[in-house]
Amino acid sequence: MGALFCAAAIHVQAEPVRPMPNIIIVATGGTIAGAAASSTATVGYEAGKIGVDQLIDAVPEIKKISQVRAEQLFRIGSENMNNDHWLKLAKRINVLAKQNDVDGIVITHGTDTLEETAYFLNLVVKSKKPIVLVGSMRPATAMSADGPLNLYNAVILAGSKEAVGKGVLVSLNDEVSAARDVTKASTMLVNTFRSPELGALGYIQDGRPYFYRQPSRKHTTESEFDISDLESLPAVDVVYAYANSNRVALDAFVKAGVKGVIHAGMGNGSFSEPMKAGLIDARKEGVVVVRSSRVGNGVVARNGEARDDELDFVVSDSLNPQKARVLLMLALTKTTSTKDIQRMFYSY
Ligand code: SIN
Repeated sequence: MGALFCAAAIHVQAEPVRPMPNIIIVATGGTIAGAAASSTATVGYEAGKIGVDQLIDAVPEIKKISQVRAEQLFRIGSENMNNDHWLKLAKRINVLAKQNDVDGIVITHGTDTLEETAYFLNLVVKSKKPIVLVGSMRPATAMSADGPLNLYNAVILAGSKEAVGKGVLVSLNDEVSAARDVTKASTMLVNTFRSPELGALGYIQDGRPYFYRQPSRKHTTESEFDISDLESLPAVDVVYAYANSNRVALDAFVKAGVKGVIHAGMGNGSFSEPMKAGLIDARKEGVVVVRSSRVGNGVVARNGEARDDELDFVVSDSLNPQKARVLLMLALTKTTSTKDIQRMFYSY
C-alpha cells in the first residue's frame, strides 16, 4: 500500500507556476477616484480627484496578482468624456495592446458614460488582449466603497486567459458584462450595470472569472472601423421622444450641421407627427436618421413603426440611443450609404 502510494505520488505533476500577468491601468477619473467630505457621503463629491497610484496603493492585493503599471490619461467626471477623449484613449490603448510586455489593460472610468466608452473601444481596439473598464458607484472615501474590490476584480479579469478574445469587457459588482449589452440602470445602486434581458457574461468570485456566455456580435479584431488616422468624428446627436414631442431640437441639430441623428423613439421606435416630418426633412438634407428606442430593451423592427425602406431610415436593432450614436459616428467615417449603415447595425 505504502509502495503504491509512493508510485502514485511520483507521477503527480506540479502545476506550472504561471508568471504574474503584466497589467496596465489607464486612469480617466470618475467616482472610483472620487473624494467626498465624509465617509457617509455618496453624492456631492469630486470625481477624479484621487490619482491612479493612490488608487492602486489602496489595494495592495493587486501587486500580489499582477505586475502592474499605471497611466493617468485624464482626470475627469465621465459626463465630460467627449469624442476627442475617445480618440485619444483608443489610440493609446491600441499602442499599449501591441506591446509584448502587456497582457491586459484596465481602464478606470466614471460610470455615467462608461457603457459608451466601452462600446466605442469594442469597435476600434485592434487586439484580442483583455480590455476591462471598471468604475464604482461610491467614492473612494465612502464607507463600504465598492471601488477597491471592483479594481481588484478588473485586474484579475484583465490578466485572465478566459477574457482573451471576448471584446471589451465591463466589470463591476462581481459581474462581467459585454460592452455592447451593458448599460447603467440605476442612479445610485452598486449593481447599476445590467445587460437587460440578455444578461451578463459571467462573474468574478474570489479572484477567479467564470464565463457562461460569449459576445456574438463583431468586435475589436473583426471590426472594420479604424480610428488610427482620425482627428475627429462626424457630428451625431440624439433627439428624445415623449408625449407632445416637437421638432425644435431636431431642426437645431440639422441647422448646426449634424451628419446623423439618433431618434430615441417611444416603444418600438415610434415618433410623433411633427417629429416624423422633421426626420423626413433631415433625411432630405442628407442627415442619416437612425430609429432607436428610449425603452432600453428589445429590437426596433425595420419597417415596423415606420416605412424605413421608403423613408430611407436605419433602425438601431437592439442598441440603445447612446450606443447607436457611437456606432453611427463610426459608420459615417466609412460611408453615407444607409444600406451599408443598416448592415453595420445588424453586425456590431
Ligand atoms: C462619473 O461618471 O464620472 C461620475 C459618476 C460615477 O463615476 O459613478
